[in-house]
Amino acid sequence: MKTQKSYFSNLNYTLANEDTSVEVEILRRFQLSGNLSLRPNEKLNIFSICGSGSRALPLALVNENTRLTVLDTSQDQIDLAKMRLRAIQRFCLDDYKCLLGYPPFHGDVYIDRRIKLLELIDETHFVGQDIIIYMGRWEKVFAKIAKLTSLICGQKLKKVFEFKEIAEQKKWWNESYNKFWWNIALWIIGNKVFFDRLLYKGKFVKKNLPQSYFQFYHQSYSYLFENILARKNFFMQLSFLGKCEFSEVEVAEIKPQYYALMKKHFENNLVEVEFVKSDFIEFLDSRESRLDDSTKFHFISLSDVPSYFEGDVEKNFLQKLSLHLMTGALVVLRHYLRIPDANQENFTDVTNYYSDIINLDQVGMYKIQILKYNKSLI
Ligand SMILES: C[S@@+](CC[C@H](N)C(=O)[O-])C[C@H]1O[C@@H](n2cnc3c(N)ncnc32)[C@H](O)[C@@H]1O
Repeated sequence: MKTQKSYFSNLNYTLANEDTSVEVEILRRFQLSGNLSLRPNEKLNIFSICGSGSRALPLALVNENTRLTVLDTSQDQIDLAKMRLRAIQRFCLDDYKCLLGYPPFHGDVYIDRRIKLLELIDETHFVGQDIIIYMGRWEKVFAKIAKLTSLICGQKLKKVFEFKEIAEQKKWWNESYNKFWWNIALWIIGNKVFFDRLLYKGKFVKKNLPQSYFQFYHQSYSYLFENILARKNFFMQLSFLGKCEFSEVEVAEIKPQYYALMKKHFENNLVEVEFVKSDFIEFLDSRESRLDDSTKFHFISLSDVPSYFEGDVEKNFLQKLSLHLMTGALVVLRHYLRIPDANQENFTDVTNYYSDIINLDQVGMYKIQILKYNKSLI
């Protein structure tokens, strides 16, 4: 079986490298559209890859009558997500932000408060001095990328954080900013050799998109500069400053409206959450013998896990997954540099119906695809 277990086995992600607001809003529309018809007493059954937990837990905010299965190969990622869940149950949004180290709570003056918050949720894994959202290997590499970009491009690129309106930012990017050093930085950083050396240790995605790496990163970042205000964008702040510096930064888990609903649903144990440490394919295999409608999923958030698949696993994962889906279920995939060559029989591509939501994605590095499962295999 070809999955990438060895890279994905430690604490790689602590903040986010996906904008989960997209999945949340897709799920909302799916529910509102009437395509999701739940029988009385039937729970909305959601499956999500865990990551730091910030990509999974917000999915519980859409419907209080939810069962959420959160899965990862890495126990460290699962432990972090469990900590997030305990913290949401217990804390107001400001305390939650302080615990994790979101702005404005990132100076030394907040260390004591963070230590107290960790004690309140019996958390011994993390010490108060460390800012949790920057502890992941992925986030640490982005801090290095920010330093390198700053070295190559100088201070001029950071002007992007001065704008309060997207039209001004776009005008500056297209008409004033000299992109010579930016292009050099992209050429040095945006490629397989760089990412394999610093992070993936030879396990980086095997690209099958036709563009070169340079074209890919050039196009993806240009989209962000032209369309998403940098002061609000966590990914641009990580890329160019190494951390989230502005209080207006938007990450799904700390959006006030999202947080309030997550808290309501978790605090009162309305949403059932199950954490599973497993490889995705092994998980599907392990539950095949006890499948009935009550265990099948309505909504699947797969991150870019399939971009790391190869061979038969890549070809067959959707068919394998289909055994676990209710008819009409949605599968949200984030392709990163590689579109899996998968058998899509019995799935319809409904991405266009959600394209306005997808266009708001703050990371811009993923080709998001939404598949609807059509056929009942009872
Ligand atoms: C796929 S990663 C996000 C990757 C990120 N976008 C990147 O390319 O570096 C999200 C989470 O998926 C987990 N993961 C990766 N492959 C997996 C698999 N085959 N089964 C279960 N979880 C997996 C990782 O441990 C990680 O926490």
